[in-house]
Amino acid sequence: MRRLVVIGQGYVGLPMALRAAEKGFLVIGLDNNASLVEALTAGRSHIDDVSDSDLKAGLVGGYSASTDASCIAAADVVVVCVPTPLSADGGPDLGPVESAAHAIGEHIQADTLVILESTTYPGTTEEVFAPLVLRPGLELGRDINIAFSPERVDPGNPTYGVQNTPKVVGGLTPACTIAARDFYAEFIDTVVEAKGAKEAEMAKLLENTFRHVNIALVNEMVRFCDELDIDLWDAIDCAATKPFGFMAFRPGPGVGGHCIPVDPSYLSHRVKAKLGYAFRMVELAEEINTAAPLYVANRIWTALNDQKITVNGAKVLLVGVTYKPNISDRRESPADPLARRLLSWGAEISYHDSYVPTWSFEAGERTAALSSVEDLYEACAAADIVVLLQPHSQYDLGRMAGESRLLLDTRGVVPPTESVSRL
Ligand SMILES: NC(=O)c1ccc[n+]([C@@H]2O[C@H](COP(=O)([O-])OP(=O)(O)OC[C@H]3O[C@@H](n4cnc5c(N)ncnc54)[C@H](O)[C@@H]3O)[C@@H](O)[C@H]2O)c1
Repeated sequence: MRRLVVIGQGYVGLPMALRAAEKGFLVIGLDNNASLVEALTAGRSHIDDVSDSDLKAGLVGGYSASTDASCIAAADVVVVCVPTPLSADGGPDLGPVESAAHAIGEHIQADTLVILESTTYPGTTEEVFAPLVLRPGLELGRDINIAFSPERVDPGNPTYGVQNTPKVVGGLTPACTIAARDFYAEFIDTVVEAKGAKEAEMAKLLENTFRHVNIALVNEMVRFCDELDIDLWDAIDCAATKPFGFMAFRPGPGVGGHCIPVDPSYLSHRVKAKLGYAFRMVELAEEINTAAPLYVANRIWTALNDQKITVNGAKVLLVGVTYKPNISDRRESPADPLARRLLSWGAEISYHDSYVPTWSFEAGERTAALSSVEDLYEACAAADIVVLLQPHSQYDLGRMAGESRLLLDTRGVVPPTESVSRL
C-alpha cells in the first residue's frame, strides 16, 4: 500500500488526505496543532466540507492524524498544505512553508515525491522549498521528485470538489512533473501538466488576481452607478446574456477568505522585490476592495439619514458575517471592518449567523464580542436597518424583507420592495 503524508490538516489538507485514503493510500495527516490532531483522531471535523461521518469513515479506511514528523521517513509521497499568510509588513510570510520543508528535509528518504500545494509566489518551490527538502546526497529528479500543484478548493461549492476540479502540476524537472501527474491521476479526474513549477505557481496567482481585479471593477462601478441612478445589477444581468467574451462578477461588501485578499499580494510583492516596479492592477484592486466595507457603512449612514435616523444609537442588524455564503470561515471577512466603522459612529450592532454563534473583532482599543441573535426575523423587525452581507441558503429573503423597515442588500439577491435598497 502506498504511503502518503499530508502536512497541514486545514481547509485544503484534510479533504485531500481523506480523498486519497478513499482511493487506497495509507494516509497520515500531519499537523503541528496538537489539539486539532486530537480532535481529528476522535472523529471531530473542523471543516465545513468534511462531515464527522466522512472523517470517521476515513479513520477506519486508512487515514490517521499525527503531530510526529518522523512518519515522513516511510512516505512515498509528501504533500504540503500549510498556510501562506502575509507578514506584518504586508509581504509573504513563508514561515510555515519553510518549517514544513525543514521537517521533510530532516526525515526524507530516497524515492519520495514531494509536492507543495500552498499558494505562493513563482519561484518559491525552486528557491525556498527545494533547498530545505533536499538533504546532501539526495539528487533532484533521481532520488527525490519535487513539484508544485496549486490547490483550487472552493469551500462550500456543492459541484466541484477534490476529485472533479482539474489539477495543475509543474515539477522542477520533467521527471518531477510526470511523477506528480501520475500521483494525482490516481484520485483526480483531470491532471494538467504545466511547463514547470513557476508556471504552476503563476497559474494559481493569475486565477486569484483575475477574481480580485474583476470584483474591484464592479465594486468601483457600483459607487458611481448609484449616484447616476443606474441599476448596475440589471446592467450586469444584461451583459451576462452575451454568450462569449463576458463573465459576470457582482458587487458585494468586500472580499474575504485566505485567497483573494492575500494571494495577489504575494505576486505584487514578488514583482516589486525582484524587478523594482509595481503590479498596479493588484494594488488598485486592493485599494478598491479594501474600501468596499466602508462604502457599505456610508450607504447605511445615508439610508438611515433619509429616514431622519442618526447612525449614532441606530439599531443595525448585520446578516451573515462569514466571508462568503454557506460556510463558517470568517478569515478576512469584510463584516469586521464594517462593524468597526459602525461602532465608531455609535451604532448599536447585532448580527445573525447560524455558522458563527459568537463573533469577536478588534474595535479600536477594545475587542467587541457579540452573540448571534436567536430569531432572525424578530431581530429584523426590531432593527432600524438590516444589512444582508452573506445570503446563506437557509435565509428566507422575502420574509426578511417583509419584516424589515429598511434593508440594505449588498448582494443583489433580495426581491425588491419599497423597504429594500441594493448596494
Ligand atoms: N482555504 C481555501 O479555500 C484555499 C483554497 C485554495 C488554496 N489555499 C491555500 O492552501 C494553503 C493552506 O490553506 P488552508 O486554508 O488549508 O489553511 P488552514 O489554516 O485551514 O490549515 C493549515 C494547517 O496547517 C497547519 N500547519 C501550519 N504550519 C505547519 C507546519 N509547519 N507543520 C504542520 N502543520 C502546520 C495548521 O495548524 C493548520 O491546521 C494556503 O497556502 C492557502 O492559500 C486555500
